[in-house]
Amino acid sequence: MYVCLCHGVSDKKIKKLALEQGITDIRGIKRCTALGSQCGKCVKQAKEILNETIVVQYQQAS
Ligand code: FES
Repeated sequence: MYVCLCHGVSDKKIKKLALEQGITDIRGIKRCTALGSQCGKCVKQAKEILNETIVVQYQQAS
């Protein structure tokens, strides 16, 4: 599913960046993808996906 329609960033891409590159904040995602740099409507949902991914990763590790 696309989260950022302006720049074609999917939820899978956000999860991949979090899991493979250890990105834990929205600034890191923005730096890698340009997410949120146009209309900005995607940022809230992107933060939720990022947070969910980090929580799941933490739960799996413990
Ligand atoms: S939907 Fe992401 S900047 Fe517009």
